[in-house]
Amino acid sequence: MLHLPLDKLSDQPTPFYFYDLQLLHDTLAAVKNQIDGYPFRVHYALKANGNAVILNEISSSGFGADLVSGGELSAALAAGFKAQDITFSGVGKTDEEIIAGISSHICCFNVESVPELEVINALAGNMGMKAAVALRVNPDIDAHTHRYITTGTVHDKFGIELEALPQVAKMVCEMPNVNLRGLHFHIGSQITDMSPYEMLCERVNLLQEAFEQQGITLEIINVGGGLGVNYDNPSENLIPDFERYFNVFKRGLKLRKGQQVHFELGRSLVAQCGTLISKVLYVKENRDKKFVILDAGMTDLIRPALYQAYHKIENLTSQALATETYDVVGPVCESSDVFARDQELPITHRGDIIALRTAGAYGESMASRYNMRRLPATLFSEKK
Ligand code: LLP
Repeated sequence: MLHLPLDKLSDQPTPFYFYDLQLLHDTLAAVKNQIDGYPFRVHYALKANGNAVILNEISSSGFGADLVSGGELSAALAAGFKAQDITFSGVGKTDEEIIAGISSHICCFNVESVPELEVINALAGNMGMKAAVALRVNPDIDAHTHRYITTGTVHDKFGIELEALPQVAKMVCEMPNVNLRGLHFHIGSQITDMSPYEMLCERVNLLQEAFEQQGITLEIINVGGGLGVNYDNPSENLIPDFERYFNVFKRGLKLRKGQQVHFELGRSLVAQCGTLISKVLYVKENRDKKFVILDAGMTDLIRPALYQAYHKIENLTSQALATETYDVVGPVCESSDVFARDQELPITHRGDIIALRTAGAYGESMASRYNMRRLPATLFSEKK
């Protein structure tokens, strides 16, 4: 159960995101503990949460940044991430974004296609500069996660397919204005079974040999992000099992001298530190159903509506010992605006405060103003 300073929060208009900065700090420390002494760099995937307070905490802990838009580039630089620790991903970068990345001297672009490579080469040439790139490989590995967040199979739009790689590698080496620094992979998100990552290591090892046969040595192996978190029982796993995750790469990758491994973790760094706090507007009864209607909706947290995701729901104010089964829904005019069906909660009343847990990743960052609603507010805990 989440413990919040409810007395302090009672004046705060709902809904809002509450961030536990101490937990964020401890989560980052747990990552650092695993990678210290290894040639590993973690680039936080900003898309998970771009809140400036969160970004400042992550950058000041020494992490790099992985981004997918010009907006994220500006936010990362403003938060103090160093340009040389920034990678730029995304299947559809605009010319303006490419120019901004080149002129900021970022670590590299993760390039998804030959046409993109040609544009980067041309734009860098116009600027009289060289652009650093890594090739995003589609390793054809099924991460066994929700189909909207699987990215590494040939049916997905991401990356360059394995068969095309030798040709693309040759092409990139002949381009005058790009500098090939490495390979990039990202197989999906919310991955809790480590075997797809083990397969990824095997693929990387084979590819490295193939590149070396072409006379190409790689400085960077970027294995992307995707480590999952515990949505069902957040309090049991407030800090994800980073040891198990990093061990896969420590054991599985055959690194060459001087090579760096980059990780692009998003969700696992920020999910558990964020909670969406909402108030019960009404408890309504239909023929055979009871609904708890919240003032938070899919505009504040879209994951349940979009991916049928579950966020643990807790009534923070009910003192009742008896429980009841409810559908917990939002106020937005869409049938999909449902947080959970048949959810058992202590008997709930208008005015009760409800927590939706594990909402720090892809919660606030995916909020919208649909129905002309206000964007959710934010509140932060003190660090101990
Ligand atoms: N790197 C790349 C290239 C990515 O596309 C992503 C996420 C990440 C890193 C970070 O992955 P993470 O460690 O956060 O799993 N909105 C969805 C998740 C979409 C993930 C998109 N790419 C959700 O709410 O579950």
